[in-house]
Amino acid sequence: MFRKNTPASDPDNARTLAARADRHRLYQRSVQDVEAEIDFVEQTWAELRQRPAVFLREDFCGTANTACEWVARDDEHQAVGIDLDREVLEWSRLNRLTELDDEQLERIELLNEDVMLTRPGLADIILAMNFSYYLFLTRDELREYFSNVLDGLVSDGILFLDAYGGYEAPMVIQESRECQDEDGNDFTYIWDQAAFNPINSCMECRIHFEFPDKSRMENAFSYQWRLWTLPEIREILYEAGFSRVDIYWEGTDEENNEGNGIYTPSETGDPDPGWVCYIVAQV
Ligand SMILES: C[S@@+](CC[C@H](N)C(=O)[O-])C[C@H]1O[C@@H](n2cnc3c(N)ncnc32)[C@H](O)[C@@H]1O
Repeated sequence: MFRKNTPASDPDNARTLAARADRHRLYQRSVQDVEAEIDFVEQTWAELRQRPAVFLREDFCGTANTACEWVARDDEHQAVGIDLDREVLEWSRLNRLTELDDEQLERIELLNEDVMLTRPGLADIILAMNFSYYLFLTRDELREYFSNVLDGLVSDGILFLDAYGGYEAPMVIQESRECQDEDGNDFTYIWDQAAFNPINSCMECRIHFEFPDKSRMENAFSYQWRLWTLPEIREILYEAGFSRVDIYWEGTDEENNEGNGIYTPSETGDPDPGWVCYIVAQV
């Protein structure tokens, strides 16, 4: 699914900021907010369950940034990350797991496996974030994935998903945002909704990065996704056997009318141009 950035075979290009940048680091700095994600997971778990969660499975883990955040939060926490792509797991071992101490490393494992087939032991929590499950293009595939997740959870386990939508989601548009890497260097993150087919609701999305010297990393990541709607996802989770599925919708900051970062269970949402929400599915 991931497309590697163009190798810098051209010596002029090799001198650019784009040629020297690492797409996984840029992704972590521009797309992910694992602290906020794990804050939400911990808070929601505490509201729904009377015991601490210990074992978290991160599906589609990529660099396993979230799994690393989980094991770093508490001495009891254990995590497993699942990804089909050997290259990204190797990157994680060399660049992300190295930020953990020896004791934390004992509590995390990365598996190069398919989320449809993996059986890493029963988890309290399974995460599938950044809309990764949108890569399942049919109801049957998505239901099969959710069934495998259900089989991978303990009897009071919880699946956490995110979802995105809004009236701009099926549009062919680009949006950009200014970001900084960990050394404070500026770069631009560009989200490119390159194609959308209303007949099957499939879309092609890409991430590009641009740098102050005007060099670009084109198609650093690309995705073929189905743009699922919330009622479809909810129905399929119930069909797979989950007993309760709640949509956690973001509240609004009264002063600036923007999202306030607080997600609560809701049955009504605003028809915003673009929204992101969490889905919490209980066994
Ligand atoms: C959008 S990235 C998500 C990265 C990370 N989880 C995040 O939240 O930002 C999707 C990842 O899913 C992986 N992937 C795709 N299909 C998979 C499958 N069937 N089983 C396991 N991993 C898969 C890809 O290799 C890629 O690393």
